[in-house]
Amino acid sequence: MDKIVIRGGRPLNGTVPISGAKNAALPILIATLLAPGEHRLSNVPRLVDVSSMLSLLGRIGCPSLVHGNDVRLDTSRVSFCEAPYDLVRKMRASVLALGPLLARCGEAHVSLPGGCAIGTRPIDQHLKGLEALGARFELSGGYVHGHVDGGRLQGAHIQLDVPTVTGTENILMAAVLAKGESRIEGVAREPEIVDLARYLQGMGAQIEGAGTDTLLVQGVDTLTPAPHSILPDRIEAGTYLVAGAITGGDLTLTGVRPDDLTPVLTALRQAGCTLTLGSDTIRVQAPERISPVDLTTLPHPGFPTDMQAQLMALMTMADGESHITETIFENRFMHVPELNRLGARISVDGNRATVTGGLPLAGATVMATDLRASASLVLAGLAASGETEVLRLYHLDRGYENLLEKLQAVGADVSRTADDPRVRQFPAKTDAQAV
Ligand code: EPU
Repeated sequence: MDKIVIRGGRPLNGTVPISGAKNAALPILIATLLAPGEHRLSNVPRLVDVSSMLSLLGRIGCPSLVHGNDVRLDTSRVSFCEAPYDLVRKMRASVLALGPLLARCGEAHVSLPGGCAIGTRPIDQHLKGLEALGARFELSGGYVHGHVDGGRLQGAHIQLDVPTVTGTENILMAAVLAKGESRIEGVAREPEIVDLARYLQGMGAQIEGAGTDTLLVQGVDTLTPAPHSILPDRIEAGTYLVAGAITGGDLTLTGVRPDDLTPVLTALRQAGCTLTLGSDTIRVQAPERISPVDLTTLPHPGFPTDMQAQLMALMTMADGESHITETIFENRFMHVPELNRLGARISVDGNRATVTGGLPLAGATVMATDLRASASLVLAGLAASGETEVLRLYHLDRGYENLLEKLQAVGADVSRTADDPRVRQFPAKTDAQAV
């Protein structure tokens, strides 16, 4: 099994370039379906999830070419309106095909994603919004089959019960080509949704309110391809800020948007870090001693659930007790027993974790069940004495571009071993790749 081996205890110093955001790239890639033609996207992170989304587009009939972080896609023709199980089970975000396929083809067949390691993750709100726009759904054979009577969606007033990120994106992508006006209330406000809206606007969509809890969309008849650069990944950035803090280091991140990280920066300041913000840089200087922080995950602009596991790793080093409450996903503490195996003392009661900080971490073999949990184990390994082996690297490959190279460049003693040579090759390969 492939693994990362970390010899911890070294402060990380230097500069880390931040990649494009996975969770913006995925909806934007599938949104290319809304405008038949040739698309050019830049700052697209080289990640397994991005490859999976390009495979899905390929299956739909839209070939692509990847050159470094640039992606060219041809969505002139759609031959297959389906997101099949073998792709959806690898990447839940395949469910984002629903809205664009309904808008483009008047039908969509998408495998139901089911639950996952962090929670049950239903898609009822996606379906509710798309139904209001005129889609009719039938569930059979593990698939959701959608049809639009008359072929074109109609604008509608939609009130979401939960501010779902991909649900908002699915409904927005459908509404931009619907006939007439849509008012979508109770939507998510994450920066990735704003980036998607900016991309759609560049192609001719009429959208107001992105970044607020209400979107107002005037449907248009057609959209035209337009170039777009994916926004920086705030979760990758937050992860490296914690890497600087947890190792007693001094890191400067480049190519970031500090405003997108406000709740994470607030938590790091409470932990005692010195932060220096530039227009697109953040420098983190670790304190002598880390202070405990209490935090609760919330939809944006609250503290992101995708940074909860990383902050928990940091809190294992704090002088005192921290309390972390997870309100977004019901099962997102799977990293706790693994952090405890490294010497942390964390107890969980329902959706609240208590971290008793200050105990020394010591290397061990650990593995995690999801992407951000894996990141927290790497962070803990960087701070632990001795050698830590993190298994199940496919999670990290889904969401962190060039993780090893970036850590090595700032002084981390990390290496990757793989039984399978194909695994060793990814993600170092940089040549043009047809997907
Ligand atoms: N929910 C419903 N019904 C729905 C949709 C969601 O009840 O129809 C609930 C979920 O069960 C959850 C809450 O709403 O309790 C929020 O889930 P949301 O739909 O916002 O999550 P998502 O869209 O599936 C995206 C990110 C996740 C991130 C969450 C929350 C992408 C591709 N994924 O997921 O990212 O954790 O928003 O911010 O954008 C990650 O990158 O590691 C990751 C898991």
